[in-house]
Amino acid sequence: MPNDKPLGEIDLDCWEQYDDLITDSLWLLGKRDNAGAHAADYWGNFAPQIAHQAMRRFTKLGELVIDPFVGYGTTLIEAVRLGRCAIGVDLQPSCVDTARARVGQAAGASDARAVALVGDSTRPETAAAVQEVMHQWGFTHAHLLILHPPYHDIIRFSDDPSDLSNAPSIEAFLAGFGQVVGNFAPLLAQGRFLVLVIGDKYARGEWVPLGFQTMEVVRQHGFRLKSICVKDIHENRGKRGQYHLWRYRALKHNFYVFKHEYVMFFEKTNP
Ligand SMILES: C[S@@+](CC[C@H](N)C(=O)[O-])C[C@H]1O[C@@H](n2cnc3c(N)ncnc32)[C@H](O)[C@@H]1O
Repeated sequence: MPNDKPLGEIDLDCWEQYDDLITDSLWLLGKRDNAGAHAADYWGNFAPQIAHQAMRRFTKLGELVIDPFVGYGTTLIEAVRLGRCAIGVDLQPSCVDTARARVGQAAGASDARAVALVGDSTRPETAAAVQEVMHQWGFTHAHLLILHPPYHDIIRFSDDPSDLSNAPSIEAFLAGFGQVVGNFAPLLAQGRFLVLVIGDKYARGEWVPLGFQTMEVVRQHGFRLKSICVKDIHENRGKRGQYHLWRYRALKHNFYVFKHEYVMFFEKTNP
């Protein structure tokens, strides 16, 4: 049965008060929120507003969020700010060190706990390590999964062959991504949400719809697609200051320059 009650902090008796919660599928977020411990210094980090919106819509105070591609810890910082608990994983120890330092900065008034672990999220033992922390904290299940994987190889995050950005083909990337979904889906409570943040890529004159390809992978793991939101790309570091060059290339080579990515919402329906 689909969930017909808000999973988040919304009190439907005063639903008009949540002006700042997005309910449309077009997300014009504009500038990244760089308040507090957030900083836009990681090549490929996402806007904290994404984690903020997802957590407020789909988790309550004190509930648990897991992010298997945590990078510099945007999800963890936002979780702490919102009084949620969070566990993040990244392959790169340097990311985890930064995430830990920033969580330390973000912590304060809130009792929320957030931890970053080094691990390869394609491996079952990484999910087992996350589960161990969950149990220590008294959780049997998580209440939200946030997945922001590499957009295949458009940014190479490290030289590690287990890094999904080094997958030798789209097929290998999708298989690795599927392993991550397969490892972490069992940790999520039934009826709860998985959020996928992803963009497409362009290779050898062809648009590669990574968004829809990864969407299918999630659906194959027992999730129901609830929404596809299209988010504006405000200005990414790769294209900063190159607007005219990209416009020229688009006109010359008959394509459109990416100005959007996807924030997709799925509900766990199968155990
Ligand atoms: C798009 S970034 C995520 C950025 C993050 N949302 C943030 O705001 O900082 C993807 C991250 O996935 C990590 N990664 C790639 N392959 C991985 C794997 N197999 N296991 C765990 N992390 C991985 C990369 O090191 C990179 O930090």
